[in-house]
Amino acid sequence: MDQTGTVGKKKVRARNLILHVHPPKVRKTSIRFTLTFGLGGMAAILFILQVFTGILLRFSYVPSPNEAYDSILSITNTLLFGSLVKNVHHWSGIFFVLVTFLHLLRTFYTGAFYWERRWNWVIGICLMVIVMFSNFTGYLLPWDQLAYWAVTVSTSMLYYIPGIGESLTGLVRGGEEVGGNTLLIFYNFHTAILPLSIVLLMAFHFWRVRKNKGVVVSKDADETLVPADPDLVLKELVVALCLIAFVLLISIFFDAPLQERANPAYSPNPAKAPWYFMGIQELLLHFHPFFAAVLIPVLFLFGMFLLPFLKFKEQHEGIWFFNQKGRKLALIAAITAIVIVPAGILINEYFLDFEGWMKNIPPVISNGLIPFIIIGVILTAYFLFIKNRYKPDKSEFILFMFSFMMAGYAVLTFVGIWFRGPGMVLMWP
Ligand code: HEM
Ligand code: HEM
Repeated sequence: MDQTGTVGKKKVRARNLILHVHPPKVRKTSIRFTLTFGLGGMAAILFILQVFTGILLRFSYVPSPNEAYDSILSITNTLLFGSLVKNVHHWSGIFFVLVTFLHLLRTFYTGAFYWERRWNWVIGICLMVIVMFSNFTGYLLPWDQLAYWAVTVSTSMLYYIPGIGESLTGLVRGGEEVGGNTLLIFYNFHTAILPLSIVLLMAFHFWRVRKNKGVVVSKDADETLVPADPDLVLKELVVALCLIAFVLLISIFFDAPLQERANPAYSPNPAKAPWYFMGIQELLLHFHPFFAAVLIPVLFLFGMFLLPFLKFKEQHEGIWFFNQKGRKLALIAAITAIVIVPAGILINEYFLDFEGWMKNIPPVISNGLIPFIIIGVILTAYFLFIKNRYKPDKSEFILFMFSFMMAGYAVLTFVGIWFRGPGMVLMWP
């Protein structure tokens, strides 16, 4: 085979590979960067980085309470590029959660959850949950104080699931306390079950995008077609390289945190959950745990799954925030949440003490049902006011509520991370 023949074959092979993911031609409007910001592709790249660095870490990591911490020290201190590999795994794990969440927001705000895209939304929600649990299970593995107590705090939230809470906590921990069994369970989920689930769901997710003839575009968009290779592939390549360069740069300059070896007898103060669960931990300071850690998250998740199955008459596909009114409503919702959530936290912290006022009533009612109903009534009245004032259609109204909840959760997370000190008391950072 002559030189040109070999090169030609290689090109054909590369093209065949690309055609497994993309069709030969794509709509010009669908590859505009500002439509998707390349977020889905970035999530995929981050996953590949996690698998690659994770497999390298597995060569030296030992999942046992006596050896885990030392194996981490030996990875960072003695192995060539060990520290870099660990840092890349740490940072891209965090970016993976963030980017996947931003991708969720983009698919929502560009109306990519209706009709034929609804299964991709549902698979997406499953992916979001699995990505968070991948991060969570990884969190325990370094077996330092941060890991041990964050997992203790988070798994104790399961206690409050009525009927099965205690046995479920025991099952997840593999015993009463976080210990060697927990580490082994988390390790197996982290390095086998969860990554495999992501691969399977991701394959289905990509296939659905292809089946839907690419990403969402507005119905009166230009129909011009362009070749996927190079028009789309080149953009993807640039995004991938920039992302990898960014992760490497962060990993060179910032080390993954490692505290002292886990000590089950000594709890740091404050003991905080991982950052993406901090919103729930903040809610726990205001509501009875059944409401904060079970009912509210379950209702929220249920709503997310249900969303694409509601009956919509209107079409708002492929346009950011649906239209001018949607843009305005999202802004009002976000501003409202940014004002009233901190106000609610302060009022509850300094003026309201439902549990103290109603000592004879079980806390699940005094500090759970009652504040839940009060807040529910206030929010319903506010949402109805918005409905009467702006006359949104169903999608615009859902966009309003979605924006309110997302901004609200972001504020709770922010307060939990930055404004809670020893004893989880409010403090100025
Ligand atoms: C699915 C995406 C993944 C995410 C989000 C993720 C996240 C994490 C996180 C946050 C840590 C704690 C590291 C630290 O903070 O310093 C960790 C540790 C670890 N992960 Fe992953 N990981 C993923 C996939 C994998 C895979 C596929 C493997 C192996 C096949 C793996 C193997 C490990 C090992 C051995 C550790 C312990 C060593 C260390 O702490 O650096 N991970 N992971
Ligand atoms: C591991 C995590 C994920 C990966 C790797 C991933 C990857 C992708 C990619 C590459 C696309 C096409 C290009 C793009 O939109 O950027 C896409 C589309 C889509 N994703 Fe994801 N995704 C993930 C998680 C999610 C989540 C959390 C949701 C939302 C709940 C979601 C919902 C969707 C929807 C509805 C589409 C179709 C978008 C459209 O047609 O415009 N995905 N995803």
